[in-house]
This record gives sequence, structure tokens and C-alpha cells, in this order.
Amino acid sequence: MDAIFKRRSIRKYSSDPVNDNDIEEMIRAAMAAPSAGNQQPWEFIIVKDREILNKIMGIHPYAQMLKTAYGAVIVCGDTEREVHKGYWVQDCSAAVENILIEAQDKGIGTCWLGVYPREDRVDGIRQLFEIPETVIPMAAIAFGYPAESKKQVDRFDSTRIHIDKW
Ligand SMILES: Cc1cc2nc3c(=O)[nH]c(=O)nc-3n(C[C@H](O)[C@H](O)[C@H](O)COP(=O)(O)O)c2cc1C
Repeated sequence: MDAIFKRRSIRKYSSDPVNDNDIEEMIRAAMAAPSAGNQQPWEFIIVKDREILNKIMGIHPYAQMLKTAYGAVIVCGDTEREVHKGYWVQDCSAAVENILIEAQDKGIGTCWLGVYPREDRVDGIRQLFEIPETVIPMAAIAFGYPAESKKQVDRFDSTRIHIDKW
């Protein structure tokens, strides 16, 4: 619960490297997510190359935090792995959130960058990474050790809770 409540979007990162083992554990956490019919339609591209990170900033208008990020993970959904059509976005979103929480638990900061359903971003990311047509890049996650600290916020709102009927 600590990791859930302390997680905030981090947009300034230090130059400290994130080790490969920690990155692999973030992906392991992603793959532990629930998915419809256990279809696990996710694919992950780990990006550490500075030139490629810069190219993502040229495609995605709200990705400037990649300037200081150590890396990014592109989370994609393989529509051909779908047993139950249309659930891939929910499956991949669960995987993204698991990455954010696992990273937080390790002291690594992250920022979720929406890609799908913006066509220009999907097309740009697809071209950059040569992603097959049946696979859709859903999100990018910037990550690195934080160079800013953000306060924990409590967004609990009892008016959004409906008991037994709306
Ligand atoms: C689907 C989705 C897309 C997002 N896209 C972006 C983005 O493109 N750029 C960005 O800086 N933050 C992005 N965010 C982060 C949100 O701005 C952030 O989660 C929200 O303001 C709440 O702040 P917090 O994450 O610090 O709690 C995105 C978050 C989600 C869930």
C-alpha cells in the first residue's frame, strides 16, 4: 500500500543508472498482472538508447521528461493473442500500473505516457520501433531515479462511491 500511495508521476530524473535486474523485475511485475482469459497480450520494448529516447520526444508532445529519464518501457498489445476481443487495453493497463508500483517500491520514479488511442502517436511509435501491424503500442513509461520529490496526495472521494445502486 505504501508504494501505491507514494507513487507520483516523476518528470525530473537524476543521471543515476537503473540496473538491468531492477528493469527485469519491473517487467516481471507487469507480467504478473491479471488479464482477460489469462490471454497476456502484452509485449514490452525496453529503451535505454539516448538517441531513441530523443526520437520519442519528437513523436509524443508530452514526453519531455524523457530528456532526463534513464529509459522508457513501451507497452504494446498484440491483438493476435487476444482470445476475448477488445480487452487488450485493460490487460496492458494493468501491466503498466504494476510496473509503476514495482518501480516505486524500488525507489525508481516513473511517468505513464499515453500513446493509444492517439493515431499519430501510435503510428510514430510503430514506425520508430518497426512494430508489426497486429501489435499496438499502448503506452510508454519513462523511468529513472527521481530528481524531484512530490507529496503524497489523498484523492479519496466518498461521493464517487455508490452502494448497491447508483
Ligand atoms: C492514460 C494516461 C496517460 C498519461 N499521459 C501522460 C503524458 O502523456 N504525459 C505526462 O506527462 N503525463 C501523463 N500521464 C500522467 C498523468 O498526468 C498523472 O498520472 C496525473 O496527473 C496524476 O498525477 P500522479 O501520477 O502524480 O498521481 C498519463 C497518465 C495516464 C493514466
